[in-house]
Formats: sequence, C-alpha cells, structure tokens
Amino acid sequence: MTDTAGTGALPVEGVSAARVLDEIRALRAADRPTHGGRLFAYVYDPGVAGLDELAQAAYAESAHVNGLDPTAFPSLLAMENALVGAAARLLGGGPGTSAPDVVGSVTSGGTESLILAVKAARDARPDLAEPRIVVPVSGHAAFAKAAHYLRVALDPVPVDPVTLRPAVADVAAAIRPETVLVVASAPSYAHGVIDPVAEIAAVAAAAGVRCHVDACFGGWALPWLRRLGAPVPPFDFAVPGVTSMSVDLHKYAYAPKGVSVLLHRNPGLRVPQFFAYGDWPGYTMVNPVIASTRSGGPIAAAYATLRHLGEDGYLRLAAVTRDAVAGLADAVGAVDGLRLLAEPESTVVCFTADDPELDLFVLVDELTARGWHTQPQLAYAGLPASVHLTVTAAVAPRVPEFGPALAEAAAAARAAGPVVLPPELLALAGSLTPEALTPDLIAGLAAGLGLGTGPAPDRMAAVNTLLQAAPVRLRERLFVEFVGLLQRPTW
Ligand SMILES: Cc1ncc(COP(=O)(O)O)c(C=O)c1O
Repeated sequence: MTDTAGTGALPVEGVSAARVLDEIRALRAADRPTHGGRLFAYVYDPGVAGLDELAQAAYAESAHVNGLDPTAFPSLLAMENALVGAAARLLGGGPGTSAPDVVGSVTSGGTESLILAVKAARDARPDLAEPRIVVPVSGHAAFAKAAHYLRVALDPVPVDPVTLRPAVADVAAAIRPETVLVVASAPSYAHGVIDPVAEIAAVAAAAGVRCHVDACFGGWALPWLRRLGAPVPPFDFAVPGVTSMSVDLHKYAYAPKGVSVLLHRNPGLRVPQFFAYGDWPGYTMVNPVIASTRSGGPIAAAYATLRHLGEDGYLRLAAVTRDAVAGLADAVGAVDGLRLLAEPESTVVCFTADDPELDLFVLVDELTARGWHTQPQLAYAGLPASVHLTVTAAVAPRVPEFGPALAEAAAAARAAGPVVLPPELLALAGSLTPEALTPDLIAGLAAGLGLGTGPAPDRMAAVNTLLQAAPVRLRERLFVEFVGLLQRPTW
C-alpha cells in the first residue's frame, strides 16, 4: 500500500489523530529535555506534578478565543487584568502603594514587552526627530532589537568588569536631550546581577526621562527571594522614577511560553504604547500590543498556573531554587580553574575559567555529553567567555549529581585540551567583514564546522571558538547565515 501521508505537513489524505501525536512525540525525542532539571536555559521548570496538565487544559479552553476584541471575549479581558494586577502587586504597585495607578498589558514575551516599552517612550516624544535610549551593555539584546525595529538610536553604557554593573555616572553622562528611555535590569540575563536601579532611576528622573526596569527574567523571582530574607535591593515601583517594568510569566511564574506583562506607573504613560487606526473601511483597529489577533491560550494557561501555585507555592519554589543556586555555586567553586563571574544574587549561576588549559567551550561540550545542557557565552568587550546557568526549582534534586559531573567534565576538558583551529581560519575570522561573505564561503565554513540543515553537532567548541574570534558584526552575520541554513522548507 502506498503511504499517501508522507511526512510533510499537508498530506494528500489526512492522518489519524493518534498518528499525528505519535509523529510529534517522535520529533520531540530529538529535543533537549524540558523536564528533569538538566537544561539550564530556554525552559523554566518548577517540577510540580500535575501543573503541565492543568496549564494544558486551561490553554485548550481558551486557545480559540481572540484577544483582538476584549469586548467580544470578556473572559480573556478578565484573566488579562488579573495577571496584570498580580504582577503589579508583586512589583510594588497597586492600592496602598506609592504606585497606586499602575496599569499594564499582557504581551507574548519579554522581547515584545521591551519593544513596546521603547515604543511608548518614543511615541511620547513626537517632537524628537532622532530619539535615543540609554542601555547598559548587560541589558537584554531585545533593547537593541527594539531600537532597530523602531529606528531609535542605542546608547550603550559599559559595565564594570568586576561588578558587571554600569556606573551611575556613565548612565547619567549618556543621557542627552534626545533620550527617551533609560534602562536598568533586575537582574541581567547574562550574569544575573541587579543594576543599581534606584540610582539609575534617579538620574533618569532628574533628566525628565522615562526609566524602564527589565525584570523579565527576575521579576517573578526576586520578590519571593526577598520575602525569604535575601538582601534584594529596591528595584520595582517602590523606587521613585521607575516608570515602566516588564516581567515574564513564562519564566519564573512557570507559565507555558507566550506570556509577559508590561507595566506602566500610570495610564498616561501607557497611552503611546497603543496603536489605533480607523482610516480604512474595516473595523477600527486598536491594539495595546504588537499582535492583533492573539490566542487566549497562553493567557488562560498563565492564569491557571498563578492561581494554582499561589503565593505559598511560589515562595516554596523560590526557597528550593535559592538552595539549588547555592549548591551549584559551591560545585563551581570546588573545581580548580573555574570561578564564579558574579556572586549569585538571583537565580543565575555564571562562571568562567581562569586556566588556559581548561577550555570553557570544551567543558560545555563535555557537560552536554554527560546530559547537562548549559549555555556558553562568548567573550565580549573585555568580559571573558562564560557559562550561564538559569536555575529553576526542578534543578534542586539534581544538585548533588552536578558537582561530580562538573568535576568529571572539567577533567575531560583538560585531557582533551583547548580547541585549536587552523591559524589561517582564525585569521580569516578576525579580518573578514560581513560584506565579504559569499555564499560559497558560508557554505564552506558551515561544512567545515559540521553545520548543515540538520540539528547542531554534538560538539560546538570549534564553532564557539571561531565565532569568538570574529568581530561582533561578523558573528551576527554568521549566525544569520547558519540559522538561514536551518530554516529551509521541507517538501
Ligand atoms: C532580562 C531579560 N529581558 C528580556 C528577555 C527576552 O525575553 P523573551 O525571550 O521572552 O522574548 C529575557 C530572556 O531571557 C531576559 O532574560
């Protein structure tokens, strides 16, 4: 019998539900494990039994509801307002606080929240021909994306190589008459350090400029850690001068992907975030966020997750995570040649290697080979290469295994020795300009590095070493090309 189903997305004859699900499960088998506490980036796993099932059921209830028109689907509006209220309350706003008028919107993720924070700041100053934003280099890359999309100039502020924070004087000096927004992170993704928010917000306020605190990563973790006694500095709406904040519910609120909250201190600040258009024959469009049609699924799933876990659940998960962070940091400290790049202040463990015989990128590969998936970060602007661990509650039971695995991986990395690339290749990477890249050169580079149309190779140390040797603009372009090779239609 001929198989008319093939493997394409649109078979000639539809296939059974059971078979489709089997196919998806088979595809998923090649993915990194989203549960089990061995993946230190991309996923946020509380390790709570039954939570996935609840979120999936809630998602299914609202998957076909459209956030385009809140009057048509009041269920979605109710859940969205409840999420915004919970986020605002957690971050120092709401009744009885110094920020009683906080309002917000639910977006699809941190990047969308940040783009909209920049848009709101830009559109509040239509008088400026060339608006600018001031962002410490440790700020998330999504600010650069926002600047690019919105044609806003980016004024980066360096960070101190030891504290990994910007100097407040440098932030103040970067503010110009055209500055529409100043950014602080709480904490930064790369290193997990909290910027001096109060001081940054003060210099922004003194200049009459908005200040956004990017708490996408830590906004749902720091408040619980503080309640547990951690010395978390002021970073939220309790700080005068903070005009907007973002917190991703698909990170430490442990909701499925697709939910972030963007908050403004008052409704007036939010107005320029919206887009409205009536100059066409269809419905007058009004969009608080970038998407117009949007599924109610992620919002309902986040609502269910928050209500089910509750404050007591999040406190418990934060305590477990805090202890896991301490355990992982100890494990790093116990390996000769490794050192923490920053003392953990939140839920990130970030370490580097001081010993030239211990190649960090080889170490990452050795950890991967042992089932531990960490995130390498390339050296940048005087900061060394590092390894980033996003720590979630599901990591806790794994901590006792991590120390021995790290020690073993480090020994294997030493035995293997650092990556040695042909000097002419390194020289090429260091001198090539993005404009000089030809399709042949890209294909040759990709083939030489084992990158093609399939999944990334198991060992990425050579790729990382080459990328690190390249200037930033070339790195970006190579990534575009390599990912472009992956994104090809299957027929
Ligand atoms: C501090 C910070 N801001 C923004 C983002 C972007 O979030 P998303 O990946 O949801 O767009 C992240 C993601 O890790 C982050 O850590």
